[in-house]
Amino acid sequence: MNFFQKFIDNRFLGVLLLTVTGMAAAQSAPPSTIDASLVQSTRGIAGELLGQLGQKLKAAMSTDGPVAAVSVCKESAPAIARQLSIANDAKVNRVGTRVRNQNMGVPNAWQKEALTQFEARLLQGEKAADIEYWQVADNGHGKSELRYAKAIAVQPQCLSCHGSAQDIAAPLAEKLRIEYPNDQATGYSVGQLRGAVVVTRPLP
Ligand code: HEC
Repeated sequence: MNFFQKFIDNRFLGVLLLTVTGMAAAQSAPPSTIDASLVQSTRGIAGELLGQLGQKLKAAMSTDGPVAAVSVCKESAPAIARQLSIANDAKVNRVGTRVRNQNMGVPNAWQKEALTQFEARLLQGEKAADIEYWQVADNGHGKSELRYAKAIAVQPQCLSCHGSAQDIAAPLAEKLRIEYPNDQATGYSVGQLRGAVVVTRPLP
């Protein structure tokens, strides 16, 4: 092999190596843009949770009354979230600005950030139904995940369980005290931010 050939071979190898390492770097970095259809389907999951829970709550309130409806919230909310999580390879949950279920409803760091942003946007006059947030981030193990949150605002029908003392009937207050001794999710008024539906999904 003459000098010229060797020079060409080395250059070729160098370019090849650069290309391979370049591809590896591009794959491990989180994507800067995200497929709109993925955001759309994630929005759908959040909507599904709110829709299913809203229906259950409404039915329970009208047939069995608010005291019995507490059990619906206690059992159905986590059950629906679990079922949606499994069906969509996602982590689906509800978090609160103030929390009733201390095991499930406490926001983590990015969820807190989303809630703070939602409060500001509500104050600026954005409609709660339109307020959402998403970001692509490292999941802590070198892989990317989509983090999505949708605002939940207080409606009149929420007050019987999340309003102030005069909104909550005595037997209901008693039931809440027993089931949730560390309940902080009262004292809300209509239109305030109650929390968010949060969805975390691994990205390919
Ligand atoms: C019948 C009483 C009742 C009504 C009415 C009610 N909730 Fe709740 N809410 C609960 C209970 C009980 C929990 C705790 C559920 C659990 O254990 O996961 C809860 C939890 C939540 C959470 C999860 C965060 C946390 O604090 O644990 C959100 C968000 C929430 N409610 C929003 C609402 C909204 C919005 C409405 C009105 C559309 C509403 N709730 C109406 C009883 C009620």
